[in-house]
Amino acid sequence: MINRWRSIYGVTFRARPFSLVCLIFFLSACGSPSAVDVIKPPAEAAIASADPLATAAGEMTLAAGGNAFDAAVAVSAALAVVEPASSGLGGGGFFLLHDAATGRQIFLDARETAPAAATTGMYLDSDGEPLPRATYTGPLAAGIPGLPAALVHISENYGRLPLSVSLAPAIELAEAGFIATPRMLLGLKFRRTAYDISPAFKEVFIPDNTLPVAGDIIRQPDLGRTLRRLAAQGFDGFYLGETAALLIAGVQEAGGIWTAPDLANYRVVERPPLVFNYRGMRVITAPPPSSGGVVLATVFNILAGYDLDSLSSADQAHINIEAMRRAYRDRAEYLGDPDQIVMPLTRLLSDGYAAELRASIDMDLATPSASLRPVFSDGSQGSDTTHFSILDAEGNRVAATQSINTWYGAAFMPAGTGVILNNEMDDFSIKPGAPNSFGLVGAGANSVAPNRRMLSSMSPTFLESSDGIAILGSPGGSRIITQVALAAQAWIEGASASEMVNLKRYHQQYLPDTVVYESGALSSEVVAELITRGHDLTESRRPYGNMNVVTWNYLSGDVEAATDPRGEGEARVY
Ligand code: GLY
Repeated sequence: MINRWRSIYGVTFRARPFSLVCLIFFLSACGSPSAVDVIKPPAEAAIASADPLATAAGEMTLAAGGNAFDAAVAVSAALAVVEPASSGLGGGGFFLLHDAATGRQIFLDARETAPAAATTGMYLDSDGEPLPRATYTGPLAAGIPGLPAALVHISENYGRLPLSVSLAPAIELAEAGFIATPRMLLGLKFRRTAYDISPAFKEVFIPDNTLPVAGDIIRQPDLGRTLRRLAAQGFDGFYLGETAALLIAGVQEAGGIWTAPDLANYRVVERPPLVFNYRGMRVITAPPPSSGGVVLATVFNILAGYDLDSLSSADQAHINIEAMRRAYRDRAEYLGDPDQIVMPLTRLLSDGYAAELRASIDMDLATPSASLRPVFSDGSQGSDTTHFSILDAEGNRVAATQSINTWYGAAFMPAGTGVILNNEMDDFSIKPGAPNSFGLVGAGANSVAPNRRMLSSMSPTFLESSDGIAILGSPGGSRIITQVALAAQAWIEGASASEMVNLKRYHQQYLPDTVVYESGALSSEVVAELITRGHDLTESRRPYGNMNVVTWNYLSGDVEAATDPRGEGEARVY
């Protein structure tokens, strides 16, 4: 396998076998030196990502002597090349890291920031109404990218290999090209009205004004050069110098408001993960500026007050839906950038608050979302982003979710960079109550402000119990969090990695006041019962999400990796 990819990439690696006798003990703690488990390392490594070429890039990096963190850099950068609809150097992401040697768990926040010239009303017309598609296409929709800074930070602080090695597969893929996949072609068709504003984008993805077909080779030489500068110069190779100058020139020529200091001042932030317990499971997940952890904790804190096993399937679904509704309501009101906003997290995460929310749930009737807060939204389907999970043979772990937001982000590429800009400004609440691309509403806590990080739903997560761990996450916009919630419930019931990614999904997000469910997620009897209780249900027109999971069972020693059957990914154990 490695030789096959090596010949494809043409990259020379300093191959080194894993240390199979690396019997060092490590701490499995959530940033707390007191919670110490003494466990032998797994001896096997595993990677699950949304693209076989990205999984292979990680495998090569492990084989070259890298650890999970080097592999994460390689996978992340390869995805930026071969899954351009979903994530890339022009976007951001969150990386949840577990350092086996110390037991430390770190949440690396590489979320985009609003440019310094951003203003609260910048996407509203003179009547105070949202300008159509203003946060969707073109450079005004783009926040300052965080992903390149994350790759540098992870490599320099946690990796063993230089960026020149961990970025080599991505560089090779950008320069030699890769075969277009059906999913990337679908995304290009979906955004076909968008990229006329971006000749550089068209040159790469729609040469001669013709959409590629399956089997065509996509080459990205400018992206290759940008990656080479990143590999050679680290942070400065993207945020200063030639790349920065090209980005700023391209953005400003097309009416954007980025400035050189916006790039030079961008910083990733290491934050403590959000940690909570549920039925013997410890959940380590994303704190703000992701809403994922708070929403997950709210859902699970509510569920913790019920004896779910004694309830019918309809009751279980009803409680889950009502918990989701309440958690997303609070998301809309309270959550935002922790560096700029004061959030009542102690209260939101408390048992007392969960008891209050539980008391407001009527087992026989759906709670209309409008009774919790005024209705503003009619919802939307668009979503992209990507997630990968990695475990190395020493027990280091990475759960990473990265994004440029909707398919092909802002569909804009500054000339000479090969970098597709994100449209994450759409994740701000541009006007209280106005829905974004995912139908999410918000208010002041997530309003547009200079240098602010927009609220996210990306939820890279570790699950831990006395039996083992799971590393998981998924794309899907607002539906990311409920995918993780359902998969975590399945894991604690004994589901394997494969069962977690195969699980059918359902979702409620407060507004719009409907339950979206995949075909088969709820039996016809449960659907009928939920309708009787007053729930509005919508069967999703297509499956959603693209989950990637790695599990490790301490007792059996088994390591399993699984990729979502809805996607085009590959999961491997080495
Ligand atoms: N761009 C989707 C999210 O961060 O939630």
